[in-house]
Amino acid sequence: MESAHLKPAVAAASTLEIRLPWVVCSAWQAVLKQTPLDFEANKDIYFQLKEQAQDVLGSALTQQVRDFVLDPHLTSMVIRNCPRDSDTPPTPYSGVLSPQSTPIACLVSLSLQSLLGIHPVVYEGENGGRLFRHVIPARTSSSQKSSHGSRLRFSYHVDNPDLPLSSERVDNLSCCPEYLSFVGMRCDPRINTTLVNLDAVVEALPAATVRELSLPQFEVRRPDSFASNRRSTPGLPVLVRGLANEWLCRFDSENTHGMNAGAECALNTLRALLESRRFDEPHLLLPGDFMIFKNQRVLHARDGFEPHNDGADRWLIRLFAVNDLNRVHYARADHLYEVRS
Ligand SMILES: [Fe+2]
Repeated sequence: MESAHLKPAVAAASTLEIRLPWVVCSAWQAVLKQTPLDFEANKDIYFQLKEQAQDVLGSALTQQVRDFVLDPHLTSMVIRNCPRDSDTPPTPYSGVLSPQSTPIACLVSLSLQSLLGIHPVVYEGENGGRLFRHVIPARTSSSQKSSHGSRLRFSYHVDNPDLPLSSERVDNLSCCPEYLSFVGMRCDPRINTTLVNLDAVVEALPAATVRELSLPQFEVRRPDSFASNRRSTPGLPVLVRGLANEWLCRFDSENTHGMNAGAECALNTLRALLESRRFDEPHLLLPGDFMIFKNQRVLHARDGFEPHNDGADRWLIRLFAVNDLNRVHYARADHLYEVRS
């Protein structure tokens, strides 16, 4: 099993790219086909999926995958050629589809998050409490700037940025997601997921702008993906130092506003630098590709596109995760994953 295929390639300075050899993918697929997806009834499934993945991937590949969380310089990881559902339904334009309709994709997401030692969550008020979010061009939301939108460009942002970042205190709200993972279900070669490495952006900004962005003088509005409680939170900094002194960010191009002229000017400088597109890292996810990135360490964006509406449009399955369950408040006592926002 130890071969040159297991060697990771660094696609960009901050992205770890791993390809699963056919023999590994095939063995993992066989195991997952025997695994019922019933995470509400089987509370041990998350642990079982980790054990299974470890066995199938082997120690070298497992360690390479885990390095993503351990290495503060790595901000994104793509694992190509993961197991896939053999009978993929049409792209769910309503945004609602039972996980049992795509069990392998959902099990791959949960297995890899479990292997990484991170914890999947869904935020109250978003996605109807369903753990898996379908990133699709929804027929009713084509003009929304969200994971259900299509025609409008969805500009640079961090997801759920009004919530406390990793080094900020949590009180009655749950923490901001530390990770977003995606499984490619259907690819549209026209549409990339764009990632921007925060460190490169901060390094290119004037020191005075970094200082302004670090002050608690910004108001952040909840993103379009929240159905209700679209509040605004004032008095937040855009840039924050993390626990290892790394930069963290809560910028959301559409939903961040300066509370004074200096703050607004710093935001404009940041926007202009990003819109130069010189920091863009485009990623095309093929069916069976898994991508994960550190939500507060990168900005992500998607260009606008015209959906085909033929049942075969671009489709990714997204899953949020956090490092520490002590930093979330469960929304309901009977629910394993839904947290208060
Ligand atoms: Fe997003």
